[in-house]
Amino acid sequence: TKVAIFASGNGSNYEKIMEHIQAGFLDHIEVTGLYTDKRSAFAIERARRFDTPVHVYELRAFDDKAAYETAILEQLKRDGVEWVILAGYMKLVGSTLLDAYEGKMINIHPSILPSFPGVNAVGQALDYGCRVSGATVHYVDSGMDTGKIIDQMSCPIYEEDTEETLQLRIQNLEYELYPRVIKKIIR
Ligand code: GRF
Repeated sequence: TKVAIFASGNGSNYEKIMEHIQAGFLDHIEVTGLYTDKRSAFAIERARRFDTPVHVYELRAFDDKAAYETAILEQLKRDGVEWVILAGYMKLVGSTLLDAYEGKMINIHPSILPSFPGVNAVGQALDYGCRVSGATVHYVDSGMDTGKIIDQMSCPIYEEDTEETLQLRIQNLEYELYPRVIKKIIR
């Protein structure tokens, strides 16, 4: 199955998915491209190491979001992409891409949704005094982290946690959760 991965920044989830493909755990998945909206994304460096073609589309180069997404969609179609995997893609998905991929687009978020959607979910759980947090994989709809939940993993929050230590704990959940969900739902 041909998939595209979208990332705006670090790209560690992208890398973990690639490692699972190489290890044979996701042997039915082919990543046709790493799509990013940030020329400076570290995910681009990671993609080079795995020989994944990189597609940079920066919103400011287009008249509006629809034109931006139309350009992305054309490339996805050229590559025959069936599923889109968001992994740290920091934009709301608009109607152009949703019309083409709704039900075939998933996202991972560092909280137990529906708690703490949007940015800084890790810091918010900590500030709120939560004793557990975790990660959620969900289908993408037009809202901010509001799509149907597919699977979640939880972890404790300790008294001595900082945003960094909690983020690390949650990311380690993500590295297990995302490949597992991808294996289960993408066939
Ligand atoms: C992850 O924590 C994910 O839940 C959120 O963005 C982060 C991306 O991390 N959507 P990385 O770029 O994969 O390292």
